[in-house]
Order: sequence, then structure tokens, then C-alpha cells
Amino acid sequence: MGESLSGLKRTIKCGDLREEHIGMQFTVMGWVQRKRNLGGLIFVDLRDLNGILQVVFGEEINKEAFEKADGVRSEYCIAVTGELVKREAVNPNMPTGMVELKGISIKILSESETPPIYIKENLDAAEAIRLKYRYLDLRRPDMQNIFKIRHKAAKALRDFLDKESFLEVETPMLTKSTPEGARDYLVPSRNYPGMFYALPQSPQLFKQLLMVSGFDRYFQIVKCFRDEDLRANRQPEFTQVDLEMSFVEADDVISLNERLISYVFKQVLDVDVEIPFRRMPYKEAMEKYGSDKPDIRFGMEIIDLTESVKNVDFKVFADALNIGGSVRAICVKNGASMGRKDIDRLGEFVKTYKAKGLAWIAYKEDEVKSPISKFLKEHELKEILNKCDASVGDLILIVADKNSVVFQSLGALRLELAKKLELLKDNKKFKFLWVTEFPLVEFNEEENRYQAAHHPFTSPMDEDIQYLETDPGRVRAKAYDMVLNGEELGGGSIRIHDSSLQEKMFNVLGFTKEKAWERFGFLLEAFKYGPPPHGGLAFGFDRMVMFLSGTDNIKDVIAFPKNQNAFCPMTEAPNTVDEAQLTELGIGILEPKEQKEN
Ligand code: AMO
Ligand code: AMP
Repeated sequence: MGESLSGLKRTIKCGDLREEHIGMQFTVMGWVQRKRNLGGLIFVDLRDLNGILQVVFGEEINKEAFEKADGVRSEYCIAVTGELVKREAVNPNMPTGMVELKGISIKILSESETPPIYIKENLDAAEAIRLKYRYLDLRRPDMQNIFKIRHKAAKALRDFLDKESFLEVETPMLTKSTPEGARDYLVPSRNYPGMFYALPQSPQLFKQLLMVSGFDRYFQIVKCFRDEDLRANRQPEFTQVDLEMSFVEADDVISLNERLISYVFKQVLDVDVEIPFRRMPYKEAMEKYGSDKPDIRFGMEIIDLTESVKNVDFKVFADALNIGGSVRAICVKNGASMGRKDIDRLGEFVKTYKAKGLAWIAYKEDEVKSPISKFLKEHELKEILNKCDASVGDLILIVADKNSVVFQSLGALRLELAKKLELLKDNKKFKFLWVTEFPLVEFNEEENRYQAAHHPFTSPMDEDIQYLETDPGRVRAKAYDMVLNGEELGGGSIRIHDSSLQEKMFNVLGFTKEKAWERFGFLLEAFKYGPPPHGGLAFGFDRMVMFLSGTDNIKDVIAFPKNQNAFCPMTEAPNTVDEAQLTELGIGILEPKEQKEN
């Protein structure tokens, strides 16, 4: 049951009322946060998008309004007209805390059942409930604030790119598979039974075609779809800030995007981001941080002990070196006091990254404790301590294995220790960097072939083209990732615009000419007609908003996200469709697959 407005107009938002408005009459509309009846007075906290306002109804003020107000409950939607007065018991914690509205009349616009979640800041409710009643979850001021930030960021991006002469152009959602390496979401075609569109994993090929068309500078804030295993910072549909530029080299794209980020962070957070960002070749990132997206807010860099231990008589080390691997360590400052159990737990932790064990050296005041001390001669131990720049009180953690395992496990261990030791607690800084000189291809051991590390249109570095056919593994790409506090915020590359080089690249990737044309023929055809040199980048917009709003859960920045199983508890998508729809599409379901738990 709800009253209609019948001509009543809202004159201001609840959250905007201040002392300067005292003495004036207003009509506000919003939701009841809470109601207290103190005998002759009823206090209603009324909430709208801009904030919460205290409204007071009194028998003395207006009896009819008072009686009606007594009937409202939490989350009723109401309109109140009244006079703004100075509040007796001021609340300095609320922006509207100096004032209150003396209610003269009230309309109950709609009633509400008791909501299944409590509408308040920092709600600690189960995610399943939050997602099922997402529209209520989004009533919470802290959630609404995130979407204000998201809007501001999108606006800042558009303003910046507009000033830089970028054109926003839309590209198709119903298209052909794009080469970003995830599984496609497919859409069956009615006109061509048995055939499918793919939803784009990114607008990659279209933006390159726009460069062929001469659009010079393109951008788009665009939905992308990837059917991949979800993690805290991934969603099956997410938004990219996608851009592409003609007549540029890597430095141009990098510098434009640094300015873009610095503009957005200034506009949205009033934070000065220092540019240019540090650049780090992939090889250095892996060797020092065991990651292609290093978190450089803290040190604890990986140290190569291979030289220092090459003569150590310990089978584990010798075996690693024999297979071309290495022995590397991290030094935990003041870590020597860590208990045996804690260290064992770290040992278990690295095993999840395929390390076979974790050797350690605790440099204590009166002794050096280590399960491998029996294998180390005095000078070897000294050399290790030296190499690690260890002081009394430090703990050295060592992994010996093939390089990929050493890097992965120590890289993850470094992050785990930062969490455990709360190294980042006070470090809210934004530490940007570019990781550059990525390998062009990586070897896929399962399929026994090379695959593009970024995508097949990424250009090799000029000085490495000579190895493309003989030793593709050593070729570096003109690719760059922007990394922020250990997360990949965006990535891009300079593209191949020379068709003979593109053919070589396909060859390396094991595509026959026919196969390449079958998948990417339209692009290869376009490249016959004077493609300009071009390159670009795409940011994960959701990830950007996560940083801007200080949340570590991507679902918080997407209005209607999917859960970890790519399911929407609110709409219950995906779901079955009518038999008739399937028939029309020429689709039969083979056998009902085992239902996934949502
Ligand atoms: P890439 O695949 O690196 O590059 O994607 C660009 C950025 O998109 C974000 N991202 C995601 N965000 C949320 N959920 C996901 N599932 C997800 N997957 C990716 C990341 C990533 O850095 N076409 C190229 C760009 C180019 O070369 O210009 C591309 O899509 O922040
Ligand atoms: P062991 O002599 O086999 O008991 O091993 C001695 C120490 O070496 C133990 O602390 C193991 O955890 C550690 N260790 C075993 N394998 C490795 C490895 N691949 N890298 C580093 N340490 C290891």
C-alpha cells in the first residue's frame, strides 16, 4: 500500500541539509533507517543517496503527522515536509548532525517488510544473502559510495581521453572468438542453426581494425566476457577501459597511460600519483619478486644463492642445479624468533606451489639454527648470510628447484609473509610500475607447442626478431603491464602491422596458414590495405575502481555481480530455457549435466 506523490515535489536531498538551511521549509524523500518513539516525540532517521537526516515528529508539532509517523518501520519509503531547525543534541559524527527537520506532514510512499539484511555501513552479512537481495545491499551507503566513485572514475577517464583526441567507438558483442586465452561464452544463432556467436573476451581485433580505418585514437569503456575460473579479482563479465593508438611506439602508449592514471587518481581521490612510473623488465620482476606483477610496497626481495651454494654437499641443492634450476632465498628481517611450528607451516605453504621443501637458517644472537647446518661448511654459511645481507635476528628461507618453481613459491611466500607480518598494514600508498619486455611466447607443455604470452598480434622487440624462428622462447615482446600494489591493472602491446612478420608469428604458434585465416582472416585481409603502426592497452576498470574505493573484492564494485560459480543468486542466471526456444535454435541438450552447487 503506498500513497502517490500527487504533486508533492522533493525540494532537497536528506544528506544535503546544513545549518545554513535553518528556518526554511523542505520536502525530503527517502527510506527509514530507524524510528524511535520517545513518548511525545518520534525520531526518524531518514536516508537517501546523499546521507541521513534526523526528522522529528511531535504531538505538539503536528498531531496527524505524529500519529502517522508512529506507523512507519525500517525501510518504509516516505516523504516528509517540515521546517529545518537547529538540533538540540547535536551529532558531530553526521554531516547533517547540527540540524533536524520538524515534520509537519508525512506521506507513506510505500511500506516495507522486514528486510533480510540490515541496511548499514560495513555490513557483515553472508555473501549469498547480499547477492540474492542485491538491491537492498546496494541501499547501503558504503556500497552507494563505491558507485559514486565508479561513476566519477568513468567520467574522469572520458574527460581525459576526450581531451587527448580519442574517439569512443562501440564494437560488437555478438562476434567471433577473440584471442585472449580464456574460454568463450557462446550465443547460439537462430538464423544459422548449429552456429554460434562468441561474446568478446576483449575488443582487441576490432580496435585494431579501427586503426586500419584511420580512427587514429580509439577508446571504449566496454564489457568483456571470459569463462574462466573465478578468483577474488575476476568476474565472468567485467569492464575494460580499452584503448588503441596509431603511429605510436611503446613509450608513447606508456606515457599517455601514466598521465591518464594520474588524472583519474587526482580527480577521484585528490591523490598525486608520481609519474613516470618505474619500469621493470619481466626478467627482473621474476628474479627479484617471483612474479610478473610485483608488489613493491615492501622489500624482502628474492636473492640468488646459486653461486654461493654450488659446492655445498646437500643433495637437494645439487639436484636442483643439475636440472638447470637454482637455489634462492628470501631474508625475513627479525624473523628468527618465529617458532618452529610457524616455519613448518611456511614449508607446507610453499609445497602448494610445488616446492619440495623449505630450508631455513635462523640467525640468532648466540647461534645459527638450521636443519641444513650439517651440510654447510662455516665459510659457506657465512657466504649465504652475507649474500642475504642478514643481521642477527633474521630468518633466511631457501627453495631449491627448477626456476619456475623457485620463483613461484618464493614469490608467493614473500606475499604471504607480508600479510602474516602485517608489513602492509600502514602502507596505503599506491605503488605503480610497468613490467616490460615480456616473453613473446610461452611453452605449453601439455600441448607441446608455443602459445602467445599476450596475444598473437603482439610485436616482438626489434632486436629479438632474429630469434623468432630459431629460438622463440628467448624473444621478448613489445608488451607492457601496468601493475599497482601487486595487481595487474592493465596490459597492452605494440601490434604487428607487417603481414610477413605476422605470418612468421603464426608459424611459431603452430597455426597453419589455413587455420590462421580461418580464425583471423578478416584481420589479415584488412592488413593488406595499409595498416598504420599501432598499439594500445586495456585497463581492468573494475580493478581500477577497487583501488579507488579501497575494497579487495571485485563484487563490491559491480552492481549485479556473479558469485564464485558464475551464478547470479538474484536472477538465478544461468537457467533453463523453454523447449521451444531450443528447438528454434536447433539445439538439443545431450544429457543433463550434474548440477553445480551454487
Ligand atoms: P588483458 O587480457 O590483459 O588484455 O586484459 C586487460 C585487463 O583486464 C582486466 N581483466 C579482468 N578484470 C576482471 N575480471 C576478469 N576476468 C579479467 N580479465 C582481465 C585486467 C587486465 O589487465 N586486448 C588486451 C589489451 C590490449 O592488448 O590492448 C586484453 O584484453 O586488469
Ligand atoms: P632433509 O635432509 O631431506 O630432511 O631436508 C633438510 C631440509 O631441506 C628440510 O628443512 C627440508 O624442508 C628442506 N628441503 C627439502 N627439499 C627442499 C628444496 N627443494 N628446497 C629447499 N629446501 C628443501
